[in-house]
Amino acid sequence: MKHSVAFFAVQTIPALIVTATPASVFSAQHLTRATDVAHSYDCLIIGGGISGLTVADRLTEDPKHTVLVIEYGYFGNLEDIGTVYPPTGLRKSSPAHLYNITAVGKYPAKVFSPPDSNLVKQLVGVPLPVKAKKEIILAAGAIHSPQALQRSGVGPKTLLEAVKIPVVVSLPGVGQNFQDHTSLNVGYNFTTNAWPNPNTLKTNETYRLEVDALWNSRKIGITSPEISLKYPLMLTTTLELDRSILHARAHEQLCIPPLPRISPNKSEELATAYKNQDPAAYLPIGTDKSIIAGYKAQLKLLAAGIRSKDTAWMQMASSPIGSTAVTNLHPLSRGTINLNVSDPAGEPIVDFRATSNPMDTRLFVELIRLARRYLATQGVMKELSPVFFNPPLNVSSDEDLGAWVESVLLPTVYHPIGTCAMMPRELGGVVHDELLVYGVERVRVVDASVMPMLIGANTSQTVYAVAEKAADLIRGLLKKKGRS
Ligand SMILES: *[C@@H]1O[C@H](CO)[C@@H](O)[C@H](O)[C@H]1NC(C)=O
Ligand SMILES: *[C@@H]1O[C@H](CO)[C@@H](O)[C@H](O)[C@H]1NC(C)=O
Ligand SMILES: *[C@@H]1O[C@H](CO)[C@@H](O)[C@H](O)[C@H]1NC(C)=O
Ligand SMILES: *[C@@H]1O[C@H](CO)[C@@H](O)[C@H](O)[C@H]1NC(C)=O
Ligand SMILES: *[C@@H]1O[C@H](CO)[C@@H](O)[C@H](O)[C@H]1NC(C)=O
Ligand SMILES: *[C@@H]1O[C@H](CO)[C@@H](O)[C@H](O)[C@H]1NC(C)=O
Ligand SMILES: *[C@@H]1O[C@H](CO)[C@@H](O)[C@H](O)[C@H]1NC(C)=O
Repeated sequence: MKHSVAFFAVQTIPALIVTATPASVFSAQHLTRATDVAHSYDCLIIGGGISGLTVADRLTEDPKHTVLVIEYGYFGNLEDIGTVYPPTGLRKSSPAHLYNITAVGKYPAKVFSPPDSNLVKQLVGVPLPVKAKKEIILAAGAIHSPQALQRSGVGPKTLLEAVKIPVVVSLPGVGQNFQDHTSLNVGYNFTTNAWPNPNTLKTNETYRLEVDALWNSRKIGITSPEISLKYPLMLTTTLELDRSILHARAHEQLCIPPLPRISPNKSEELATAYKNQDPAAYLPIGTDKSIIAGYKAQLKLLAAGIRSKDTAWMQMASSPIGSTAVTNLHPLSRGTINLNVSDPAGEPIVDFRATSNPMDTRLFVELIRLARRYLATQGVMKELSPVFFNPPLNVSSDEDLGAWVESVLLPTVYHPIGTCAMMPRELGGVVHDELLVYGVERVRVVDASVMPMLIGANTSQTVYAVAEKAADLIRGLLKKKGRS
């Protein structure tokens, strides 16, 4: 049975509203008072980040479509509409576009900074009885899109019952399967650094002016993208590189090795361990069987990926003046986003559950070993004589390195995904292949929450791609059903 959902009965009052009608988002009207909002629009888009604004922009290419974008933060100005800031005057702080939620559990990272509730009242004041004639489009991101669904009665039944929200659709996957890239820094100092190096740009004004002049006049020199692109992979041919170019580069060096490269002696053993895991063992107690089945299917795919010599598994971003940021691109641990039972109208409870699957710690241990091996023994890196201090070299057993990893790990690099996953419903999925939420009519999710597993890259490009695809689907639907 299908239901239509009236979101605004239970939604937070939005702080700021943009209608894009009828032209592009760059000529959107910026509404700041509830009285300016019409009773209905063709589409309501919840969230004015990358995905929401991309979809709004595409839909309003046809002036017949009216679209209301509801954003809880604020936009800097209409030229800079792609950037959403929290309405607390935090614009200069970095990262600015984040809410202030502190995650629970072992990794209580700050995730976001909050819009100011007084400002919210001042701007809008009352709940909006606004209706979508055609579709409601969730684009509030992997933390707030599942929150919006749960508050509207679409989500795990036991959770909804606990917060006394009438169950519209029992959909166990909403807010589960939460993933983010995890990261940590391996610290070292070079004993004999090359000249010039990126520090020279900061410490030697004469040198910096020379570099700037080269770039400004001829678009060449160490800050040019040409150099960055030509010498990106530390693991390849650094031996042959001209030392001054390599070390003077202002940019980090990035390498994204596959596991057989990270750990040639252990990758087979690790792949087998992935595949043989009991999928229920590392998920929260009471996890629905559909979600366990979905996780099992993911483990199988991940076990194949980890064996492959062509799949980027982890990332090392080295700075030529010490410190390598290492990132797990395909974590196995799965977190949760659930309404707060003591305050269902407040911010949801974010639990990264990073390293809840011990394989994630194990992989970081191998990656630290790679960093040490590589930096201390290879070519010019060796000549620079790195001295590792974090973790110190005497921290070397699996156990000691693992404990160190868990003491410093960052559970997020702001790539949250997975909480409204596009997967079959019997595998814990929330949306089907047209991004429509199972069991309800005309409610679509168009942001990073639909990605079922993390990609081995930054997520923003993929979010644009999902939004473009969503816009095509929505426009197709509008035509097909003759609604426009
Ligand atoms: C974040 O919230 C805490 C209270 O939870 C508050 O003390 C702090 O000032 C807030 N930070 C920002 C940047 O709003
Ligand atoms: C590494 O070098 C930096 C600056 O060059 C210095 O501040 C720091 O104390 C050094 N760290 C260690 C552990 O030697
Ligand atoms: C600063 O840079 C200039 C220009 O490259 C160079 O000639 C000079 O030796 C540098 N000074 C120091 C202290 O390294
Ligand atoms: C892999 O094992 C061989 C044989 O035991 C050993 O010589 C080699 O150092 C190991 N490689 C790494 C990267 O640990
Ligand atoms: C849940 O809500 C209660 C009541 O407002 C609050 O005290 C608590 O901090 C919230 N929990 C989290 C993890 O935000
Ligand atoms: C490493 O050495 C430091 C002192 O240099 C000591 O405090 C620490 O406990 C040692 N760690 C291990 C794992 O041996
Ligand atoms: C991801 O984004 C960060 C920060 O913008 C950047 O430094 C890094 O190079 C990017 N990584 C990849 C693989 O593109």
